[in-house]
Amino acid sequence: ALLHEELSGDEVLVVSNREPYIHTQSPNGIEVQRPASGLVTAVEPVMRACSGTWIAHGGGSADKLTVDKHDCVSVPPGNPSYTLRRVWLTKEEEQGYYYGFANEGLWPLCHIAHVRPVFRSTDWEQYVEVNRRFADAVIKEARTDNPVILVQDYHFALLPNMVRKALPKATIITFWHIPWPNPESFGILPWRKEILEGLLGSTILGFHTPFHCQNFIHTVDRYLEARIEHDASTISYCEKLTQVQAYPISIAWPESKQEESGEDICMEVRKELGLSANHLLGIGVDRLDYTKGIVERFQAIERLMELHPSMIGRFSFLQIAAPSRSSLEEYQNFEARVRTLARKINTRFGSAGYEPIILRTKHHEPEQINRYYRAANVCLVTSLHDGMNLVAKEFIASRDDDQGVLILSQFTGAARELPEALIVNPYHIEQGAAALYRALVMPEVEQRERMRCMRALVKEFNVYRWAGHMLMDAARLRRRERVTARI
Ligand code: F6P
Repeated sequence: ALLHEELSGDEVLVVSNREPYIHTQSPNGIEVQRPASGLVTAVEPVMRACSGTWIAHGGGSADKLTVDKHDCVSVPPGNPSYTLRRVWLTKEEEQGYYYGFANEGLWPLCHIAHVRPVFRSTDWEQYVEVNRRFADAVIKEARTDNPVILVQDYHFALLPNMVRKALPKATIITFWHIPWPNPESFGILPWRKEILEGLLGSTILGFHTPFHCQNFIHTVDRYLEARIEHDASTISYCEKLTQVQAYPISIAWPESKQEESGEDICMEVRKELGLSANHLLGIGVDRLDYTKGIVERFQAIERLMELHPSMIGRFSFLQIAAPSRSSLEEYQNFEARVRTLARKINTRFGSAGYEPIILRTKHHEPEQINRYYRAANVCLVTSLHDGMNLVAKEFIASRDDDQGVLILSQFTGAARELPEALIVNPYHIEQGAAALYRALVMPEVEQRERMRCMRALVKEFNVYRWAGHMLMDAARLRRRERVTARI
């Protein structure tokens, strides 16, 4: 209701790299997949609710076959409520803009995971070019001169200013889904000025936490001649005002009651995994990314088994690891490390029919993952650094039985909202092992108390609130601009 109120009659355009539905060619025809992406998890329900057009990179194998034929499709399949407009990139563009500048440059620059960023001029050129192409697509799609444009993430840092020049009356809300580092760390970027200027084309620039907002403001203060109002959290640059604000992202709270009972799911999942009915189960769900702390998580499991041999044969950990950015060497090396460590632990503590770590490195649909969440005794989110981390919130939302324990890295945005989780430093392996043991022996009453608090928070501060707050702030600024224009 809040969304509809705020958007009444306004045209909404979303722009992101990742598309919400990937059309892949399979022997059975075209299949539609939903990607493993926090961004898509959050933005998709908002688009379903308010309709409009979502502009994204068409990345599926079937997408590529339809080049120039079907730029636009109505989605979701079977219940269309908004338009997906695909932008097709060449191999060189994808390599330079997405793999190169965005994921070998900006991604390690913004996440403190101690992976050195790589900055190549050729990647930068593609990044500029692709931002230009998406900006043109936005400008072309806009039917009015003042649409609301929701720009998503570090793939499009230049686009806000490009669009601003063509559509000065547009309300551009940019949301940065990953952390923003301190000025010293950001300062090594050869094109820091261009990135900051690009983002300052936004009417509103959102981050997950006040801490990331402060880092951004201090970065601008250090590298640009801008006027900053610290109390109001605004930046004036080249006669344009940008509001910098924290909007902690969230998920859509499940509308209906889950059909199958929690007990049935527990039994079914254990049967599927070849485990006994009272076997203890942990779950981890991540993209195979070095920021997610999967190695440290496995080390904590190994330590648990050293310290508590009673857990050997009694506890298994299911790691769903969706392949991600796998053409990059850093990601290939990371996957190899994860596999090697899982094998080592399984050889050391496993036995016939028993694997302490069940590693599944393939794509899973949200419904499958939801079953695993519900069947687990504990969920481990041990990111070394993470903007928010929506797996933590999805796990909580799935637990309508008020059971299950969340172990959560202190370096996620989610840790600031969910103190009832067992908060850990993922680098501290002993602490991780202790938290895991505590979770596995936690009395049901304590689990219930913690889970209820977390469920109440995620239910209230859901993704519609996230979008609603940004749109309300945008509406306020639009009103102010109209009044100022009249004076
Ligand atoms: O949330 C950060 C993010 O990079 C999103 O932008 C992205 O959709 C998700 O992680 C998954 O990454 P990718 O789109 O590169 O597969």
